[in-house]
Amino acid sequence: MTILVTGCAGFIGSNFVHTWLASSKEMVVNLDKLTYAGNLANLDDLKDDKRHVFVHGDIGNRDLVAELLTQYQPRAVLNFAAESHVDRSIHGPGEFIQTNVLGTFNLLESVRAYWTKLPESNRDVNQQSFRFLHVSTDEVYGTLSATDAPFKETNPYEPNSPYSASKAASDHLVRAWHHTYGLPVLTTNCSNNYGPYHFPEKLIPLVILNALAGKPLPIYGDGQQVRDWLYVEDHCRAIARVLEAGKVGECYNIGGWNEKANLDVVHTLCAILDELQPRADGRAYAEQITYVKDRPGHDRRYAMDASKMEQELGWRPRETFDTGIRKTVQWYLANQSWVEGVTSGAYRQWLDKHYGA
Ligand code: NAD
Ligand code: TYD
Repeated sequence: MTILVTGCAGFIGSNFVHTWLASSKEMVVNLDKLTYAGNLANLDDLKDDKRHVFVHGDIGNRDLVAELLTQYQPRAVLNFAAESHVDRSIHGPGEFIQTNVLGTFNLLESVRAYWTKLPESNRDVNQQSFRFLHVSTDEVYGTLSATDAPFKETNPYEPNSPYSASKAASDHLVRAWHHTYGLPVLTTNCSNNYGPYHFPEKLIPLVILNALAGKPLPIYGDGQQVRDWLYVEDHCRAIARVLEAGKVGECYNIGGWNEKANLDVVHTLCAILDELQPRADGRAYAEQITYVKDRPGHDRRYAMDASKMEQELGWRPRETFDTGIRKTVQWYLANQSWVEGVTSGAYRQWLDKHYGA
């Protein structure tokens, strides 16, 4: 048996491949365009593992995707591929529309053509039959006030950034392909992830690496924006569980029950670094905190009500924020060569040499 995964040279996808192969013999075909966020070093330890096949390409390339579907006959397609960073979407929304909206549309059409030709036994909605699982975000629901209840699957979509609007559009396409064509889809909406292989444009890895490099730790606005943090392996286990037992056509909210204000997250990181790798001058990393101009349209608070995942699928996160964040700092301290490759841009040179990317 085989699954086709997209975007799995990125942060969550690469963690998913590791988590998946740790407990399954099933082959994983990994289609990734290797944008700036795609890094094959995230999958270095799988170089000689025949269960993982890497294919360089775009989810929007229908010929290529059709070829892969015919060749590998996957029992499921999991779509992680996306442009994922809000700040980049503000500076240049075009790529977000291209990949997240048009790319998902093209992928859905390629998958629909494949699914339509599957034998009848593979096309009904029993647990063994084909699935298309779409990985999405809590940001599609918009923003919460301090007193609002966390987002449920029934909340209306109210995206505020070009990123979240493009993800919301892709979720709507996935929903429509189920209702109109019967494609057996599952959608997961998850809160902010953190953990190994996180690209250092996002808050947590950025703060760890800037702190160690003696650079400022930028806090947007007043730093009181709240995110619901989930350790990435818990997200990966949730996705595997939805694939295994989720009800076709349904959406599942995934979150950590871990709401934290940004400033508290940064202070926690500084305190762990003070303990594990103290500054040479003996001063506190928190002295590097710098308040900067706020992000335009900055959502104030996200929080997920993940009780459907718990009640219907028996999933709960294993890591608390305290255990997960410590593991994450330890991972960055222990993986200097990965960090160097990313910060020096050496991983891009490797790509240029191999793919002319
Ligand atoms: P990422 O930016 O780290 O990785 C994205 C990957 O997709 C990269 O490897 C990139 O090369 C690839 N890619 C981009 N465009 C492509 C295309 N057109 N064709 C093929 N591959 C392409 O993102 P991530 O943080 O790992 O997020 C993965 C998914 O999870 C995204 O769909 C994102 O919206 C969603 N998500 C992320 C978070 C989070 O906190 N990071 C939370 C909830 C949901
Ligand atoms: P980010 O990691 O970009 O995730 P998202 O915008 O998808 O939630 O940012 C997390 C929070 O941290 C968000 O409220 C913006 C804030 N932030 C900063 O304050 N400083 C930074 O340098 C970055 C990258 C983010």
